[in-house]
Amino acid sequence: MKAEIGVGLIGLGVVGGGVARALIERREYFARQVGAPLVVRKAAVRDLSKPRAVELEPGVLTANVEEVLNDPGIDIVVEVIGGEEPAGTYIRAALERGKHVVTANKELIAKNGPELLAAAHGRGLDIMFEASVGGGIPLIAPLRRDLLANRITSIRAIINGTTNYILTSMARDGAVAQALRKQGIEPVARGGYADALASAQELGYAESDPTNDVEGFDSAYKLAIMATLGFRTRVRPSDIAIEGITRLSASDFAYAEELGYVIKLLAVAERRDGGFIARVAPVFLPQTEPLAKVDGVNNAVQIYGDLSGTVFFQGRGAGADPTSSAVIADLLDLAHGIVLGNHERKYWGPEGELPSLGLEALESRYYIRVKVSDEPGVLAQIAFALGDNGVSIAAVNQKETSEAPNAAELVVMTHRAREGAMRAALESIAALPVVLEVGSFLRVEG
Ligand code: NDP
Ligand code: HSE
Repeated sequence: MKAEIGVGLIGLGVVGGGVARALIERREYFARQVGAPLVVRKAAVRDLSKPRAVELEPGVLTANVEEVLNDPGIDIVVEVIGGEEPAGTYIRAALERGKHVVTANKELIAKNGPELLAAAHGRGLDIMFEASVGGGIPLIAPLRRDLLANRITSIRAIINGTTNYILTSMARDGAVAQALRKQGIEPVARGGYADALASAQELGYAESDPTNDVEGFDSAYKLAIMATLGFRTRVRPSDIAIEGITRLSASDFAYAEELGYVIKLLAVAERRDGGFIARVAPVFLPQTEPLAKVDGVNNAVQIYGDLSGTVFFQGRGAGADPTSSAVIADLLDLAHGIVLGNHERKYWGPEGELPSLGLEALESRYYIRVKVSDEPGVLAQIAFALGDNGVSIAAVNQKETSEAPNAAELVVMTHRAREGAMRAALESIAALPVVLEVGSFLRVEG
């Protein structure tokens, strides 16, 4: 029987600090559950002089990662520094030295997960990554284990808290601004993207460089991990069509509200005959859909399996406590296996390679917002460009705009159409001399 399970942390920031704190504060409880205490033997950081959220025993904190990797008393290495490198090198080194790995690193797992899993399994070890998707929401274990019996055909998710906070703020501030304007009051917050991003940064939800979140890359990494596990084929971030939220304007939110929708950054992977389609983009979602009601920094994931039907997961997708809940679940699972002398669990194996079909194969309804010259025959030209490409109009809305003289804003909702046809129509519309700007082009889900 092992006297203790040695844990080595690489990183002691938001997540690493939360993990270390919980391991210390809940030590007796974890020891009872696992059958041996989990002890943090080393924690590597970059800067030893930084204040830490948690006080560790003397000699535990180090600026030398080799001290974690070379400590023979460390059974499990927890990588919580993020990024592809040097995290990947550290994880491979930990596996070579016979240590299990727990990581919260979505970028690394999205890009190299299957190879890392194979490297671990080849040595009778495991690499676990529950915290890489959805913070405290259990998603990886259900996909690896609980839904294994299913043929999963669809994953739809709001999987980035920062962007969901920004979109929720834009919708709320825009609605308040409209109400104030009706009373003749000019609002301070108008529901624009820049204001919402600034507020997310002030509250610590968005990083000073928010590119990964607002351009959709973070969501794509998470979708790649879930789809790879769910579809049992390799889905790479490069297979995913990615659009961010930076081009959305307050008027898109006003139209969405008026038409009975909300705007969400949705990550969608669908398994089709002969392949899959994966995409991350802002979409119009009917207000009645469960995903439409997921607001602020919350995340939610809807998975359809042929036996389970639809299952819905919701919760806090980031932050020290929720994320440490997921990291520690993996730690306890591995630690229990070590105590029982039963290390390897192989809950995931690919079932061949499915190709990415790309957006051409997609069919959807669409919303387009176009700024046009307000003159006779404009609507007919736009209707012709759509009809000529086989795209049927479901509704049209025209409003005067104060932004430019003799200009109007036209909003068109289409019936279902092939994405290829819709894009061809958009090109024709953008080339029309009467069109001043194609403001937005969003898919309408549901
Ligand atoms: P932080 O920036 O808060 O912490 C990173 C930690 O890693 C710091 O302690 C830093 O040291 C240390 N570090 C960075 N580079 C090195 C290096 N080369 N060698 C040694 N130590 C290093 O990041 P988070 O805790 O927020 O994120 C960690 C991981 O968790 C990332 O993969 C992230 O995507 C993931 N994640 C984060 C969530 C969150 O809510 N924050 C949610 C879900 C996943 P120092 O303190 O000295 O700078
Ligand atoms: N930046 C991520 C988010 C953190 O906003 O959801 C969790 O991965």
